This record gives sequence, C-alpha cells and structure tokens, in this order.
Amino acid sequence: MNAFAYRDGRLHAEGVSLETVSEAYGTPVYVYSQAAMEDAYRELADALQGLGARICYAVKANGNVAVIRALARLGAGADVVSGGELARAVAAGIRPTDIVFSGVGKTRDEIAQALKAGTGQFNVESEAELAVLGEVAATLDLRADTAIRVNPDIAVDTADRIATGSYEHKFGVPIRDAARIYQLGSRAPGIRMVGVAAHIGSQILDLSSFESAFAVLAECVRELRRAGLAVERLDLGGGLGITYTDETAPSLAGFADIVRRTVGGLGCEITVEPGRRLVGNAGVLLSRVLYTKETPLRRFVIVDAAMNDLLRPTLYGAEHAVLPVAQPAAGRETRPVDVVGPVCETGDWLAREADLPILQEGDLVAIAGAGAYGAVMASFYNGRGLVGEVMVHNGAHAEIRPFQDPAALQALDRLPRWLE
Ligand code: LLP
Repeated sequence: MNAFAYRDGRLHAEGVSLETVSEAYGTPVYVYSQAAMEDAYRELADALQGLGARICYAVKANGNVAVIRALARLGAGADVVSGGELARAVAAGIRPTDIVFSGVGKTRDEIAQALKAGTGQFNVESEAELAVLGEVAATLDLRADTAIRVNPDIAVDTADRIATGSYEHKFGVPIRDAARIYQLGSRAPGIRMVGVAAHIGSQILDLSSFESAFAVLAECVRELRRAGLAVERLDLGGGLGITYTDETAPSLAGFADIVRRTVGGLGCEITVEPGRRLVGNAGVLLSRVLYTKETPLRRFVIVDAAMNDLLRPTLYGAEHAVLPVAQPAAGRETRPVDVVGPVCETGDWLAREADLPILQEGDLVAIAGAGAYGAVMASFYNGRGLVGEVMVHNGAHAEIRPFQDPAALQALDRLPRWLE
C-alpha cells in the first residue's frame, strides 16, 4: 500500500489532503503516515518470522517520540546512539532492556545514564571504550551487557559518507582484534560479554553486501567460541535500502534468507537495527513554491523548504522524487527544473533537473522519501525556524512537533558582559 496517493486530483496521506495539512500547520512541514510505518514494520517482522529476530528501530532515522511510539506499539525495541536518543526511546515507551546503545563516542555521562536506565545492550567500538564502560559500570555497581562491534572490512556500494564497514571508517574494531578484546571484556568487572555486532552502511540495495558481512560475523562467532568464549547474541545492524526514485529496494524475503543461511544456525539471539526501511517512505516534506525563475542555463523553482530542512540532497547527492500536490493532468508537459530553497548557498537544492509540470507561485510540492534522516538533520541555519512535523493516521492529523520560530533559538543567545 502506498499511503501517499492522489485522490480527487490532490495528493493525500491516509485520506488527509496535504492541502489541508498545509492550511492547518503552514509550510514547510514534514508529514508522516503512521500506517506506512506500521506496514513497513510488519513487512519486516513477517519476513524475519521463524528467526526469532528482534527489531530494534534505529532512532537516528526519525527520533520524534510519536514515531518511536508507533513502532514501539508493534513490539519494536530501539537502537540509540546518544543519551538524547535513549531518553526519547524511553519516553516513547520502549523498555530499556529492549534498547541497544550503539555509537563510537559514548561519553561517561551517557554511559552512566544508560546503565542507570537499565539499557539492554552496549555495542562497544574500541578497546578504550570497553575500559571506560567497565569502569563506569563497576563504580555504579551495575553490569553492562556488552557486544563488540566488529568492522568486517567490506566495501559497500552506497554513498561514500554512509558506508561504515571498511577499515577506512572509524567504526567497530578490526576483525583480527575481536577475540582479544572480547576476552578482555569477559574478564572485566562490570562487563558481561554477550555478543557481536556489525553495521556496514546505509541505503544498501545489493543483498550480497549483507551476505559477505554476515559470513564474516559467523566466522567471528565460531572463532570466539573456539577460544572458549560464550556468544549469545548477534546484532546485524541496519542498512536496508529503499526506493527514492527508480532504485529497486532489496527484497526482505531475500534478506531473511541470507540471515538464515549465514548466521541462522549459530543459536544466537538475532537483532536487526533498521531505520530508513521503516520510516523513509512514510514521510514527505511539504513545501510551497515562492517564485520561479530562469537563467540562460537552468530553470529554478524556489520553494519555502531548504537544505536546513532536508540536508540529504546536498550532503549526499541524494535524489528525492518531487510530487506536485495538485495532480498533473495526464500527458501534461513537464520540464526539468531545479527545486531550490531560500538558503544562501549554491548547494541549497532539494532536487536537480526534476521533470515537473509547470509550477507557479503558491503551488504545493511534496518531497518524497523524507521520513528518514529528514527532520532529525534539520537546523536553524540562515536564521530560519526549525521545521515542524505532522503525523497523519486514518483520516486524522496531529502536530507532533510544532515549527520552532527562529526567536526560540535567538532567545538562547547571551551577550558576554564586555559586549553588553
Ligand atoms: N545501526 C547503526 C549502528 C547505524 O549506524 C545506523 C545508521 C543504523 C543502524 C540504521 O541504518 P539504516 O537502516 O537507517 O540504514 N544520514 C544518512 C544515513 C546515516 C546512517 C547512519 N547509521 C542519510 O541520510 O542517508
């Protein structure tokens, strides 16, 4: 089911007209379909059935408490990478024991916060971090259930900045050090070594990358066990890609098959940490055309959303489909245009050479595939406000984070006494 569809000539989300949303909350604004998130979750859960796998939603993709709550209700745990995300997951109703704390640079304060909350698993990424984790846990007289994140040194075909699984990247410990560090952890007070984790990158479309990585993980588990170490859990990370324009998203049945073949027989409790796949196509960024203009070389449609609202196009060269909210008549002429925002940077584009019908001032457009890594990466840059978020479900709509006026940030500024 596609939750975003034209009805009576207007783009709707779960039966709510995006025109209505724009009137109620203004633009730019993120609009999410709860049903689309739920469908994506269920589709993955169904595919993984029989593997006993736990789905820990990667909160970094979209950390709105309402979004986490919707997934928590279906049984999702969470993968978090900061104390802030941990607090959001807990506020959304996820049991701390169902939370995995990932990340390459956890601070002592965050580690203490997570231990006190009763976090179910810490994925450590270096020997140095393991030592700090053990120390903080021992001081608090608590125990950290710990997995070691290994770097399998796999090249993944995705945007440079979102590949994580090779030795060029800061993530995980080199596979050759895994046994030694695991051994260290198993002797450290405050630590209970429970397993091995990996995450090789994001927006992965080719299932063979997963297959190579999981095979390395399986070998790692066998090696640890040969050394007499107990390995109960295996965390396979996230990374499942989605369709933004014309990509073919990897099949979930195919993914499940690979999990079964590579690591299914190890007797480990399996966790996956999907972010984008659960929420990416469940959201659009709704925006209004301010002006149009042409140079001898290009046609520009200037909209009220900008790179501070959706950073992906300029940061990663990501392509997002742009849908006019008023359904274009069949056979209507289209022209390639650059959809750009008001921010004073040449790279402030949301789409380049997008084939769109002729748009005019006041028209609404929906930038698709914006449910993941959209609102979470937004900023106040250029003195703009922080974009708001709306959830739509079953014909109802609600603001799940109001637009933050630029004055909210300005109010935090202080003059040092010598400039007063
Ligand atoms: N687990 C770990 C340890 C991760 O680092 C990530 C994503 C995930 C899970 C979830 O990955 P997903 O299933 O969403 O691919 N801002 C970038 C994506 C950065 C992903 C970082 N880590 C973008 O907009 O494409």
